[in-house]
Amino acid sequence: MEIRENMLPVLGPKGGEEEVQALREVIESGWWGKGPKVAQFEEEFAKMVGHKYAVAVTSNSHGQDLVMKAMGFKGIDVINPAISFIATAMIPLWNDCTSNIVDVKRDTLCINPEEVEQYKKSNSELLIAVDEAGVLCDYKELRKVFDGFILQDTAHSCWTPGAGLDGDVAVWSFQAVKTMPAGDGGMITTNDKQLADKCREMTWFGVSSTWSRAQGQSGKPGYSWDYEVDLLGYKYYMIDIIAAICLEQMKKLPEHLKFRRHVQSRYNAELNPMIERPPHSETVQYYVSRVPSEHRDSMIDYLADKKIHTSVHFKPLYKYGPLKQDREYPVCESEWVKLLTLPCHNRMVEEDIDYVIYWVNKYCEDNI
Ligand SMILES: Cc1ncc(COP(=O)(O)O)c(C=O)c1O
Repeated sequence: MEIRENMLPVLGPKGGEEEVQALREVIESGWWGKGPKVAQFEEEFAKMVGHKYAVAVTSNSHGQDLVMKAMGFKGIDVINPAISFIATAMIPLWNDCTSNIVDVKRDTLCINPEEVEQYKKSNSELLIAVDEAGVLCDYKELRKVFDGFILQDTAHSCWTPGAGLDGDVAVWSFQAVKTMPAGDGGMITTNDKQLADKCREMTWFGVSSTWSRAQGQSGKPGYSWDYEVDLLGYKYYMIDIIAAICLEQMKKLPEHLKFRRHVQSRYNAELNPMIERPPHSETVQYYVSRVPSEHRDSMIDYLADKKIHTSVHFKPLYKYGPLKQDREYPVCESEWVKLLTLPCHNRMVEEDIDYVIYWVNKYCEDNI
């Protein structure tokens, strides 16, 4: 097969005329900040995932931080998985907590409840569970061994039916390469009204929204300029420009996820048997295959040579300076060296899938 001219990215967002039109409307409306689009998005998103409350924020990372602050988690031990994006383990450090990184299950790469049981401490009050690549954690077992607060990091599981409903709160991501991308953005969803209200208040320095005050909140006509501030707040709210993109992406989500699952099925069916398939994911945030470890890095180079970008999701978090731990991670150590993420996103067309399958299989035939 001839080598293509342009690089095939491993991940990427797909938008169209609908997003452009939605942005145009917001820009021409004269209200760009947090306003009606954010309110509409919060309402529709909460309905989709089946939570009562949704608070739109600047990112998943800020959402997690806000939940920790609203819950008053400071100086405690936070349990989190070894395979995840660095945010999961670093955000506890922003709040003067310790990050207690535990090993994952071999099949799903999600946090292993047995490890949680073994390594939890008397001050382990929070557990951050990541639905790795869109595969849900074993929440039933986690609840048996951990009776603290579970923050479900749903950055990869937007949206799989039932996702987000097992934790005490779910935090979503609309970052540029997620399944519902908007450049950046996040959402906190929960059934806990008190937590939702507090998070909402804290998204803008504890000030009530300008939009609601512009709607005559005081009962008087005109803009109600005055406000009270009763707590320490931050600047973590989503704006209408982002919410407008999110609303369009949400309409396209079923179609987009269907295509991602199609890529997954074709890879599963047609890749060389040397390639270990990932567990089934409804969102396929990443198609994380496993290859013989001695071939992983040379395969990355080989595929890059053929203009195919790949990646590794993820390098274990305990390998990064501020997150170093004094412990053995047998599953992570044996598995992460095999991880190879192949392109899977909504910019791809059928010929791109053919192309990846051809070159991965050619590598296997010629080298393994
Ligand atoms: C598991 C996980 N958690 C959190 C984040 C952070 O999300 P955001 O970029 O929206 O802050 C990411 C981003 O890749 C992620 O993969």
